[in-house]
Amino acid sequence: MNDVMKLMQEHSSVRSYSEKKISNELLEELIVSGQSAASSSFIQAYSVIRVVDPVKRQIIANAAGGQSWIIDAPEFMVLCADMQRINYASLKNEEGELKGYTEHFIAATVDTALMAQNILLAAESTGLGGVFIGGIRNNPTIVAETLELPQHVFPAFGLCLGWPAHKNAVKPRMPVSVIMHQDSYNIDAVPADVDAYDEAFSAYYGSRGSNVKSSNWSAPTTRAIQGKRREHMLEFLQKRGFLKC
Ligand SMILES: Cc1cc2nc3c(=O)[nH]c(=O)nc-3n(C[C@H](O)[C@H](O)[C@H](O)COP(=O)(O)O)c2cc1C
Repeated sequence: MNDVMKLMQEHSSVRSYSEKKISNELLEELIVSGQSAASSSFIQAYSVIRVVDPVKRQIIANAAGGQSWIIDAPEFMVLCADMQRINYASLKNEEGELKGYTEHFIAATVDTALMAQNILLAAESTGLGGVFIGGIRNNPTIVAETLELPQHVFPAFGLCLGWPAHKNAVKPRMPVSVIMHQDSYNIDAVPADVDAYDEAFSAYYGSRGSNVKSSNWSAPTTRAIQGKRREHMLEFLQKRGFLKC
């Protein structure tokens, strides 16, 4: 394993930060590193909204279900999937306005996620820590209005960054043999794989130095995704010009 892989495998989300600021120079380098990710057809379909206004931070923290780290983090940004520029480019080149194809939604969302992960990894390489904030999609209209987002742009998720005051233990991922298939998908393995991971995860939670829990992986995860159906998302995205066809 080399140093980059070691850094990647030491990732854990950080939600508690020291007071120390992140310099503008470093922040810009992180964004440039984010932009260096690959991009579908090179559309670069993302924007980063850096939120410094404490009133806006508070509004977004409330919209995200009261996540206090959005207020406390030295930096908080909202990562937007953004087809606004490519829409302009499309009109400029007489290709017509974008119609809101599902495929374009996927391309923009994937571009945004790749860029965001590059930002976080670059940040972690300097000793910074951070956490993504999907909670902003609890109330995406409030977030979009607060940030004055135009059509063809939607707030995908947030990112808090800062110098860690506390780091959580690394959560063990599923074994490679579970998530990697060869030549065809091995559906027969799913029940045994999930059961085994549940057992391994219970052992991990029970043996942690701090924040010991009595839980497996599947129970809280299932509850979490059932609690985050966000049924408003389809209409919200369609109003912004996505997922129309
Ligand atoms: C797209 C995305 C959205 C997330 N949203 C939140 C969030 O709103 N609040 C939060 O505290 N953590 C959030 N997380 C962090 C996950 O809970 C975390 O990555 C996961 O539990 C694994 O833990 P680890 O990152 O420490 O390894 C999010 C992660 C991703 C990738």
